[in-house]
Formats: sequence, structure tokens, C-alpha cells
Amino acid sequence: DWTMPSYVDEAIEKIRQQVGDDEVILGLSGGVDSSVAAALIHRAIGDRLTCVFVDHGLLRLNEGAQVMETFAQNMGVKIIHVDATEQFMGKLAGVADPEAKRKIIGKEFVEVFQVEAAKLSKAKWLAQGTIYPDVIESAGAKTGKAVAIKSHHNVGGLPDTLNLKLLEPLRELFKDEVRKLGVALGLPPGMVYRHPFPGPGLGVRILGAVNKEFADLLRRADDVFIQELRNMIDPDTQKSWYDLTSQAFAVFLPVKSVGVMGDGRTYDYVVALRAVQTSDFMTADWAPLPYPLLAKVSSRIINEVRGINRVVYDVSSKPPATIEWE
Ligand code: XMP
Repeated sequence: DWTMPSYVDEAIEKIRQQVGDDEVILGLSGGVDSSVAAALIHRAIGDRLTCVFVDHGLLRLNEGAQVMETFAQNMGVKIIHVDATEQFMGKLAGVADPEAKRKIIGKEFVEVFQVEAAKLSKAKWLAQGTIYPDVIESAGAKTGKAVAIKSHHNVGGLPDTLNLKLLEPLRELFKDEVRKLGVALGLPPGMVYRHPFPGPGLGVRILGAVNKEFADLLRRADDVFIQELRNMIDPDTQKSWYDLTSQAFAVFLPVKSVGVMGDGRTYDYVVALRAVQTSDFMTADWAPLPYPLLAKVSSRIINEVRGINRVVYDVSSKPPATIEWE
């Protein structure tokens, strides 16, 4: 019978046997899978795990600080935090095509990671948060079954050139099992039950060319949206709208529209809110968020985020729209 505590013990024992006295490195992204893998491997081998956390400057508000607090401060995990914002922004400057942006972010990510990994000369293993659906998906891709509409960049795609052996302790688990494991290992439920976040981050939520100004505006608008989704409880289910949606976020539209504020005219950017309900992310319905929630989010964003004077709600389902706008 599958019970969590015995599963944890078995998984830890397996990692210890596999790794022996070796050292391990892991690319931490702040996502659920790499976080749970880090917590599990740390439980198994302690200080012989070093995590590399590459901040591309396209994370959500305070995300970098939260990752450091959870892992470094609270759990005592060794983490190298690389703030590569300038480097990523430099490479992305003027690039508007979504797939070109994904490729740049993916390539840059690998390069930054490799530089850090090369410094950890004692490491023999590269740990990854690969989960069972990833294993299936890449098997499908090899046989041509899966059609890639968007090239998905994940921490999973790190190169063989590092000459490291692969450690993938979550390979047999489904997402809900990974989440339960994360909670059992003491990760904050708020982190473990978070909506998925794409590897290229805000890079594909700022339409067209990315820059730091747009990323800063989007981060703040997105944070307001997420806060209010968490705050508003649906009376029928007693769940928050955050938990009633599968994925929700703000999208930055680099177009300006006219508004009024006080006696003055504004000419500022637009933010679109996206919230969907889905079980598999292959198809998705736009979420019927309550009007009072939309009203609160809109007025808070327009009042609090100077530079945004208009908020719209995306009422497109997938297909034919995708969940992300790029
Ligand atoms: P779409 O937009 O294709 O999104 O309907 C389906 C799911 O995939 C996520 N997504 C990505 N995840 N790298 C990722 O790691 C990417 O480039 C990427 N593009 C989309 C999206 O957030 C949604 O959960």
C-alpha cells in the first residue's frame, strides 16, 4: 500500500544508494517540481546537495526572495542565487517573436547554469524535477505523437555536456503525488499548490519585446490579481478563486490608450487578466470570475500601478486561444 511516510523513506533510501558519497547539483526554478526534488534530495544527503537558482528577471513579484527564504533560511539548503536579470534583458532587447524569445531565454538559462555548475567541480550528479507526465510527453515527442505548438523551456532541458549523471527522484510521480510529497517534506502548502508558471516566465506574458520597465509594471499588476483571487472566497464551495482556477495571471499589452485621472489626461499601457479552468491544460475554459472580484482587481491595478490605465478580461477558451498569450 502506498502511504506517504513510507514513500518518503523509500525515496530517501533510493537516493542515498544511488548517489553514495557523491555531490549533487540541482537547478531550482521556484516551480513545484524542482522545489520538491530539492527538498527530498536535501533530506537524503543534506549539504552534498547544492542548488543553483537562476533569476532571469522574469519571475513574479518577490519570488526570488521567497525561494531563498524557504530553502536557504528555513530549510538550510545550500543555494547559489544568480541574479542574471541584466544579462537576460540584454539578450532579449528588441526581440519580439515569441519563439525567438523562448529560445533566447532557454539558451541563456543553460549557459548561466553551466557557468555555476562548472565551479562545483566535485558534483557528479545533476538532479532534475522530472515527473511522470514529462517522461510520457518526451517519449511521445520522440515518436512524433505530440505536436509542439510552443517550444516549452524547462529546467529539464539541461545539456549532456556537463558530464553529470542524472538523478530524477520524481520520475514515477504524478503532479498531485508530487504536491503531497512536498507538503510531507515541510514545504509551504502555498508554494506546493501554486498555479503552474512557464519556464520563460513573464517573458511570454509581455507581448512583443521585453524590457525591465514592462516586467516591473506587469509583476505589480499580476501580484494584485493573485492577491485578490486568494482573498475572495466563493460562498458555495468555500474555496478561494485562486483554488477555483487552474491558472491565472496578468498579461502586459504594449499599447497605450487614453484615460482620465483627476483633471488630467493619461496615455498609458493596458493589462489583460487571464484566468482559466482546466484539468489537463490541453483544453481550457475562461473562468467565470465574479464581477466584484474583477472590479476590485481593476480599480486596484489602475490606482496602484502608475503606468497602467486600463484593464481588460480575456474571455477566450482554448482552443482556439491558448492559455498564454504567446
Ligand atoms: P498554452 O499557452 O500552450 O499553455 O495553452 C499550456 C500550459 O503550458 C504552459 N506553457 C509553458 N510552460 N514553458 C513552460 O515551461 C513554456 O514555454 C510554456 N508555454 C506555455 C502554460 O503556462 C500552460 O500552463
